Amino acid sequence: MANLLFVGDIVGDPGMKITRLAIPRLRQTQALNAVVVNAENASDGTGLTPNLYRQLRQAGVDAVTLGDHIYKKQEIIKLLAVETEPICRPLNFPDVSPGKTVAWVPLPEGNKLAVLSVMGRSFMRHVDCPFAALDQALEQLHSQTRHILVDVHAEATADKIMLGRFLDGRVSAVIGTHTHVATADEQILPGGTAYITDVGMTGPYDGVLGRRYDRVLHTNRTFVPTSFDVATGDPRLAGVIIDLDDDSGKARSIRRVMIREVDLSASA
Ligand SMILES: [Fe+2]
Ligand SMILES: [Fe+2]
Repeated sequence: MANLLFVGDIVGDPGMKITRLAIPRLRQTQALNAVVVNAENASDGTGLTPNLYRQLRQAGVDAVTLGDHIYKKQEIIKLLAVETEPICRPLNFPDVSPGKTVAWVPLPEGNKLAVLSVMGRSFMRHVDCPFAALDQALEQLHSQTRHILVDVHAEATADKIMLGRFLDGRVSAVIGTHTHVATADEQILPGGTAYITDVGMTGPYDGVLGRRYDRVLHTNRTFVPTSFDVATGDPRLAGVIIDLDDDSGKARSIRRVMIREVDLSASA
């Protein structure tokens, strides 16, 4: 069996700090074989820098996905293209968008995990068709591995459920990101694919989706723009742990994990 941890959208310094603290411990206590994180908000709330990417790798992260904020810190563009770096861009961006579409992670028994990211189309930028992009990608990937994880970065719950059903039995796990609030619908779909609509945010929970409440409120009430600085209070890590069968790549279990920094400090 292979034990995977997927960690939801890492937001700013508070998100980076709890990730650095929690991942090494979780790798030990949960006997993890692979750790994948969505880091699209790691750098001050938008984007990811090469320096933060290195910090994640040093903390025990095996692969990184992103989302609509992918290119906000442009220094990352060069790194996205490096074949050996396990970081990928959404599959259904235009062909000319910088970055690879698959990140590879070695698993036990000589298996390997393909990590993909795909964006939903409702209430988001007009990306290419996710269904066609996934069909095309899976046709190639299935000759290489049955262990495949897809990060579905989407705003609409129905988009995510639909993509989960579309991929059921064809991939190991479909994990929703982007809305920053964990949903309670983790399950194994009928075809053996682990699924959750949103894995939740890794960052400060004393705010609005990771941003300062007072700033967001001011702008919403007055229409006067402010900078939505990253909040600081109550940092938590949100993720799911998925157990995959070595031979089939199908999921046997999925469970949610929520770790509060205050609990980590107490047990240190
Ligand atoms: Fe996003
Ligand atoms: Fe996000």
